[in-house]
Amino acid sequence: MNINTLRDDTPGTKNVIHFNNAGASLMPKNVSESVINYLREESLYGGYETADKNRDSINKAYSSIAEFINARPNEIALLENATAAWNMAFFSIDFSDGDRILTSISEYASNFISYLRLQEKADVNLEIIPNDEHGQTSVSSLKKMMDKNVKLISITHIPTNSGLVNPVEKIGDITQEYDCFYLVDACQSIGQYPVDVQKIGCDMLSATGRKYLRGPRGTGFLYTKKDQIENLIPPFIDLHAAEWSSKQKYELRNDARRFENWEMNYAGIMGLQTAVEYASDIGINQIWKRITKLAEKLRWELAKLPRVSVHDIGEIKGGIITFTIDSISSREIKNHLSGKGINVSTSSKSSTLLDMEERNLSNLVRASIHYYNTLTEIDQFIRVVKKIADR
Ligand SMILES: Cc1ncc(COP(=O)(O)O)c(C=O)c1O
Repeated sequence: MNINTLRDDTPGTKNVIHFNNAGASLMPKNVSESVINYLREESLYGGYETADKNRDSINKAYSSIAEFINARPNEIALLENATAAWNMAFFSIDFSDGDRILTSISEYASNFISYLRLQEKADVNLEIIPNDEHGQTSVSSLKKMMDKNVKLISITHIPTNSGLVNPVEKIGDITQEYDCFYLVDACQSIGQYPVDVQKIGCDMLSATGRKYLRGPRGTGFLYTKKDQIENLIPPFIDLHAAEWSSKQKYELRNDARRFENWEMNYAGIMGLQTAVEYASDIGINQIWKRITKLAEKLRWELAKLPRVSVHDIGEIKGGIITFTIDSISSREIKNHLSGKGINVSTSSKSSTLLDMEERNLSNLVRASIHYYNTLTEIDQFIRVVKKIADR
């Protein structure tokens, strides 16, 4: 990996130390250019006409994403973000009274709100799988919780706030023995970790474009395993998802595009496609290796600072590093770092309520690094955090 070249490809690295990749990464130049070029073409020649002309490139997004996660193009649906993708999958399941949903402690707020919403309509049991001694979803506890009433196992792969990488592949081994759906929220893992839907063994997987994939905002996708597509009826169906065939009937598509809408942000899709190809060219294993190396260094250096506590958990940790400084609010730390040209974000209790309550945490600073960050940037970051802590 030639970091200098990759940084040259990323104009933003000249302006800021960007440790907010779990929020939205800096886009490579070719990603932003593909969005801008497409928009320009639309403005000059017309939106529908430009889509017709670029149909092959648009379709390439499906095959590039499929290849990236070891799926088939007809198992991919393009949506506007991870939440839309996740909700499409979740609300396509035909839940019945008495069904059980098993989920992780580190579940993201939007997913959990959807469980609660479903419970207002159906008598389903929502159960939380305990964590193991490392703080990740316990595979052995899950094994004991399984029975024929489990309709869905829903796991966040890399949570928004704790460094943790959940053992989704081992969880997948368990789900294979049961007639249930397995949904993975890969919002923070796509582009960071080698996500392989065959190895995970999931039925559905939701992802976003703007985070570790380095795509444009307002892009995302849903993977649905071919054999399960027919068993999932989308909560909203438009004339792209289905054909209106008679006064009484419509025919749903038999591929994953039944989860899409007709109208789409094609410029965003062009950017997403470019971002996926860019990550593929670098190599996701290389990306993961460098992220974990940089993250380990950052955690190690932060933990040495007085008044600073690192709050990450999990046997395997990724590029999201969370910390607090005694008696200084996360917002204050974020603002101070921002004044020094360093981007981080904060993670609130309500984003991952169960996890934060279990660990008695209220607000964290989240520094999320990517492969294009450097050891020099980490040193600079540590110097600034030390100064804040020394005040
Ligand atoms: C784990 C996780 N899931 C889902 C989401 C929602 O993603 P999006 O904003 O693309 O809908 C986030 C966003 O931060 C997240 O961290």
